[in-house]
Amino acid sequence: MAYIKSAALEETGYVVLDMYNKPIDPKEWLDIEYVDWKSSGDTRFAPLASAKGEIECNGFWNHKPPRTDKDGVWIPAQTAIAPTLTERALEPGSNVGRCRIIELQPNTYADCLYNLHQDDNNRLNPDGTGWVVRSFFNLTNDTNSYFVLRENRTDPSEETRIALPAGAQLVIDTQRLWHAAAHYGTEPRYCLITSWESGPELDAYIEKYHGVNRVESFPVDQETLDAGQAEQARRIAARAAALAARGQQEVNVMSEA
Ligand SMILES: [Fe+2]
Repeated sequence: MAYIKSAALEETGYVVLDMYNKPIDPKEWLDIEYVDWKSSGDTRFAPLASAKGEIECNGFWNHKPPRTDKDGVWIPAQTAIAPTLTERALEPGSNVGRCRIIELQPNTYADCLYNLHQDDNNRLNPDGTGWVVRSFFNLTNDTNSYFVLRENRTDPSEETRIALPAGAQLVIDTQRLWHAAAHYGTEPRYCLITSWESGPELDAYIEKYHGVNRVESFPVDQETLDAGQAEQARRIAARAAALAARGQQEVNVMSEA
């Protein structure tokens, strides 16, 4: 047995879909309820679907009974305020697990490299069923910001940087790829993140919106790239030293977000 995965994601682990180019009222992400939830960076999250329909963001496996990141329960108080976003999460017809809006405060490329993480999307996911991937639908027009993807956390040689204007749509195997956003600006970035189960529905959706599995990296000057890489190494070493001083090791670099 093996998990059902999308052929479109096999080679690079991501696809970029056509831009969504209809306006959405910012109230859909500004007027809903956020909870403090530490992910990669200074973040809060507003769930639209959660394990039990409550306004919280814990992994479904941390609930009783523990279960995998599928069959998210919609939260009427939130979806009523964000009907277009809810519709967008449901559009492929794939099973939806966690669905929430991330609010990310401004940061830098160096912060982003330190924040790179893999998601824990498939814990308790039964073999033979669909592999859970994530969709990212950027809501704010963050023209100086970009998503960073790497196969290996510390290896810049195959880094991909994907632009994040309003309407950018990505589907990413975030359990495979290390990822985080570099967000330049003065205002928070908002993005809808949905766990989708791989299968024929998702494949059809990727095809419908012309998913491409390679894009030109968002341009960043070499000096910033080099400084970011050096800072990532410095922070990783500093953290390892701090943990060693307490007699601990990094046990789990996977994030729940
Ligand atoms: Fe993540």
